[in-house]
Amino acid sequence: MSIDLTETSITEAVQKTFDGAEDERVKELFVCLVQHVHDFAREVRLTGDEWFKAVDFLTRVGEVTTPTRQEFVLLSDILGVSVLVDLINHESGSSATDSTLLGPFYVEGRPAVENGADISGGVEGTPLFFRGTVVDTDGKPVAGARVDTWHSDGDGFYDVQMPEKLHDRLAMRALMTTDDEGRFWYRSIAPRYYPVPTDGPCGEILRTANRSAMRPEHLHFWLHAEGFEPLITMLFRRDDPYLEHDAVFGAKRSLVVDFVHHEAGETAPDGTRMDEPFQNVEWTFVLLPQGG
Ligand SMILES: [Fe+2]
Repeated sequence: MSIDLTETSITEAVQKTFDGAEDERVKELFVCLVQHVHDFAREVRLTGDEWFKAVDFLTRVGEVTTPTRQEFVLLSDILGVSVLVDLINHESGSSATDSTLLGPFYVEGRPAVENGADISGGVEGTPLFFRGTVVDTDGKPVAGARVDTWHSDGDGFYDVQMPEKLHDRLAMRALMTTDDEGRFWYRSIAPRYYPVPTDGPCGEILRTANRSAMRPEHLHFWLHAEGFEPLITMLFRRDDPYLEHDAVFGAKRSLVVDFVHHEAGETAPDGTRMDEPFQNVEWTFVLLPQGG
């Protein structure tokens, strides 16, 4: 029955409309969603004005979202939902590398490059040399793994945040493939801690709560290899001041790494004699077997 409904009876009436869903999981998700949203509205005694404000907020989140500006992902991130979903689905403490959230700055269309490439895209900064090894849980190298990486510049900005400076060119992101020994390596520039974008609707939430928008300095990685679970993760600078106060709750102690500083005159991992200071980062990524 869906006539003369009350504050209480409306929930079951809406839930029953999903009885016809052929996919049991879809049905379960909607029935539970309706339950929680209705309970939320009843519990806080949601007013009409508040509901319209919420609808207006989500409308604006949609309006600023583009292929290179993902405000919905950011909303999920700052409310902790992205990390919660990751925690539900990836048990921490296994022998594999911990995962964390994707973040709003992954974009399609990154260039595929050879190992050793300079992926800075001409953006100036402190040179950074990264060397990664991908192994399975027995320590055996994983050859042919595809590794996406992306990071900010030394001022904390991603390429997609500076379309005028870069003329919409992508930079500081690339797709690489591991060699027979599971290795991949590249040259780029050192990233920096940064505030998540606060010029959109999500910024309103942060300001309303008097919350910091800062994320600790990090490099992003997304690994795919045949026979293994995909891994979305980040590496964080050990001495970062925001490590314990990540605005999107994604930092993990197991993903902290040394960004080793080297002085001018030293030799870089690729054999280049450097005439300026540079940084060196090394990490071994451990992949879980598929279904493992
Ligand atoms: Fe990031």
